[in-house]
This record gives sequence, structure tokens and C-alpha cells, in this order.
Amino acid sequence: LDVSPLRASMLDWYDANARILPWRQSPGLGGEGDPYRIWVSEVMLQQTTVPHALPYFEKFMALWPTVRDLAAAPNERVMAEWAGLGYYSRARNLLKCAREVVSEYGGVFPANETALLTLPSFGPYTAAAVMSFAFSKAANVVDGNIERVMSRLYAVKTPMPAAKPVLRDLAGRWVRDDRARDWPQALMDLANAVCRPKSPLCMLCPLREACAGFAEGNPEVYPVKTAK
Ligand code: ADE
Repeated sequence: LDVSPLRASMLDWYDANARILPWRQSPGLGGEGDPYRIWVSEVMLQQTTVPHALPYFEKFMALWPTVRDLAAAPNERVMAEWAGLGYYSRARNLLKCAREVVSEYGGVFPANETALLTLPSFGPYTAAAVMSFAFSKAANVVDGNIERVMSRLYAVKTPMPAAKPVLRDLAGRWVRDDRARDWPQALMDLANAVCRPKSPLCMLCPLREACAGFAEGNPEVYPVKTAK
């Protein structure tokens, strides 16, 4: 696929259709993303949907606007505010990470993927997301939504989860320094509004003409599930 014109169409689509989400706006940082806000949102979003996470995110930011505030919070208070998001281990790791960012990095998240990966609560996805959304680095951010878009675009026949490394490689072909922060979020918003799991709205899709799944006639079959 010729990536450049399709990237341009996608980013035009994003400019017109981007969701307004509170972690995309970082007060006082101008156009820059606040790694703290992005990190908290991503840990929450590994757990639940955007609509469910929104009020929790707003509450956390009101209670603990910076990583130093979170690091100083009592464990029980953070656990209580996490209730309803599930998996307390994530909340415990969140606190551990906040305290480590304060003790090891002076309260500033390192703009370095390798360093981020050493912190509690960070895995490959979270590290890439913070590199991209906070620091605007060309990181290959791949979640289930982006996997779905790639599986359809390339009509990947390998079933999940074996297709995961294939889909990661395909997603990586689209990553550029230009608009590095916007690119994965454009794919996530497309996946949410257009390239939906059920009943995708292909007529609205800026990638339609390049999409092998659309050309085949039934993009919904992707990503292919393993036979039960
Ligand atoms: N899901 C996970 N991270 C997200 C983000 N930054 N925007 C929208 N949906 C997401």
C-alpha cells in the first residue's frame, strides 16, 4: 500500500472527527501531552471502555493533579477511588509507579521507552502510548482497536492471537515522525466510530479504497478468530 496519501486522508479525517477526550487536553502544557495524565488514562483504559473510564479519570485528576500528588496519596484512598475499575493490582502498580517517578526521576516521567518499561504498570503498549501521546515520538502503539483496523485493511487470514505479531508489523509500516502523536489516536477514533467490531461504516472510511477487507465484501470477519 502507498502509505503517504492514505495517511494524509486519515489525518484529514481525524482533524474533522477527533474525539475530545480529557487526557488529550493537558492544562498548562499547550499542545504537549502531559505524560502523567496520559499514563493514568492508559492504565484505566486497559481495564475498561472510554465512557466508563471518563468519570474515574476526572476524579483522579481533581484529587491528584500531578504525579507528586498521587505519590503522596494514602494507599487506601487510591484503592477506594479505583473501586469500579477492577483489578486492584493495577491500582497498586499505579501508586508504585508514581512513587518511583518521584523518587527516581524527580517527579518527571522519562521521555525514553526503555526507561518507562522499567517502571511498574508499564508494558510495551503503555510505554509506546506515552512515548507517542505525551512526547510525540514515532512509537508503534498497537491495541485491539488498531489490530482490528490493520486486520481488515490487509485482510489478514491468520487467526488471533497468532496474528498479533503480523498486525504489529503492519501497523509499524504507517508510523512516521510527522504527527506521531495523532496517528495512533486517529486509528483508535476510526476504529471506534467507523471500523467498529460489528457493522463497520465503510462508506465513511478514508481508507476504504485501499481496504482489502472491504474489497472482499465482508470486513467484519476480521480479525479472524481461532475456530472453537
Ligand atoms: N484507548 C486507549 N487509549 C486511548 C486513547 N488515547 N484514545 C482513545 N481511546 C483509547
